[in-house]
Amino acid sequence: MNNLKKDKLNKIINHARLYGFIYNSSEIYNGIKGVYDYGPYGVEMKNNIKLFWWEYMVRYRDNIVGIDTSILMNKNVWKSSGHYNNFNEYFIKKDTKIYKLEKFLILILNKIKPRYKKNIKKKFIKLLNLKKEKKIKKKLNKILKKHNLFNNFRIKKITLMFKTKINTLKNKSFTYLRPETAQGIFINLKNVINSTRMKIPFGIAQIGKSFRNEIITKEFIFRTKEFEQMEMQFFVYPGEENFWYKYWLRSRLIWHKFFKLGKQYYKIKTHKKLSHYTTYASDIEFKYINKFKELEGIHFRKDFDLKNHQKYSKKKLTIYDLKNKKEYYPYVIETSLGLDRVFYSILCKSIIIEKKRIFFKLPKFIAPIKIAILPLIKINNQIVNISKKIFDDLKYQFNIVYDDKHSIGKRYRIQDAIGTPFCVTIDKTSILNETVTIRNRDDMKQIRCKIDSLYNFFKKEFDISFFFKKYIKNV
Ligand code: GAP
Repeated sequence: MNNLKKDKLNKIINHARLYGFIYNSSEIYNGIKGVYDYGPYGVEMKNNIKLFWWEYMVRYRDNIVGIDTSILMNKNVWKSSGHYNNFNEYFIKKDTKIYKLEKFLILILNKIKPRYKKNIKKKFIKLLNLKKEKKIKKKLNKILKKHNLFNNFRIKKITLMFKTKINTLKNKSFTYLRPETAQGIFINLKNVINSTRMKIPFGIAQIGKSFRNEIITKEFIFRTKEFEQMEMQFFVYPGEENFWYKYWLRSRLIWHKFFKLGKQYYKIKTHKKLSHYTTYASDIEFKYINKFKELEGIHFRKDFDLKNHQKYSKKKLTIYDLKNKKEYYPYVIETSLGLDRVFYSILCKSIIIEKKRIFFKLPKFIAPIKIAILPLIKINNQIVNISKKIFDDLKYQFNIVYDDKHSIGKRYRIQDAIGTPFCVTIDKTSILNETVTIRNRDDMKQIRCKIDSLYNFFKKEFDISFFFKKYIKNV
């Protein structure tokens, strides 16, 4: 990242901290690497993003239901899901430097003569799917030797799951903090079908915390050890997976683009290196500060998870197909999004640095505070009474604040800084003709509006039901 980009990232981090969006965790104890707290405005914005996801994925569809499963599960869940054996990362130590295996391979590729590159690239893709340190080292050494490159390096495997003790008075046991929310959905499939009578094809969605012992946690909240996922598992008849895969890839992209951060910042990348559970997969990538990186994953998990859970739990997870009169495992299309990454994508493109102000030009519908009510003179009883009445009338419809501290200029700047789209100012004219000014965050222009039209004005500004109506068609 060049200095200009680093400077932009620092501005985002500082502004987010100063104005109550995101703090370092455990700050008074010098922090903890790769873990963050969301402040008063951060949590409001996070909740707005969650609601937008939930409404789009669950509320307005009749083929998806929601669930909220536990973070702690029986440790056998992670054995069956393959995480216990496969959820690792490989690091290379060469001289004094430490690289992620992928980064190290790119380094080697750059040293290889152009005519061999294509072939070596193919070998590297295969190598990335190997599971044993010894095998990886052997294959890598062979390539390095053949191309007269260095071979003095060490390889280390790191388990990404956090182990945690479960003690009772009688005995001790352990499990892992969940590294993905998806498994809570798979192991509850039968419960959900029994209690909701949902029929294939249908989906189960949930939002919740996940934990990964990430070694390299950089770029603010892009990769952290504790994060929130918004995942949906869509169960389909075998043979219909391609249709649904394309459907969900398209639908998820539509959702992201509604933030209007710029269509050019999104692209689709098809995976070459697959995780242990995927048959094929794509990422929706976003150009955060300087380059395109993963935002959301769309994965075809086939019957990998259900088959394994049935095998190890010995509980039937197949579905009876009435038409063909036989049991089958539904196939799974997964949409998996990190809430913190959406948050970060919005901050990256919303920060506006002007001569006189730095502010977050947030999409209006997810701004933490929607409207600020600002009486111009706080010692004038009539102005205060009108202001309080407006506040009381609007506060049940929108998340709003009442602020009578400091000069009006300072109050505007504070609201701009936290991304409040509108400020309503009540002045002496308000007493005379029942009008107020509405100031727009983005261009700072003011219009005069009748007090009794305020509700309709704001309802129109914040309403997004047209989006759901246009894009959610139950298939
Ligand atoms: N259930 C599938 C799954 O978890 P993944 O690609 O490992 O797949 C899905 O993760 C999404 O979760 C990613 O696209 C990203 O948005 C988010 N994510 C993963 N690891 C993360 C981390 N360490 N910090 C923040 N978000 C993360």
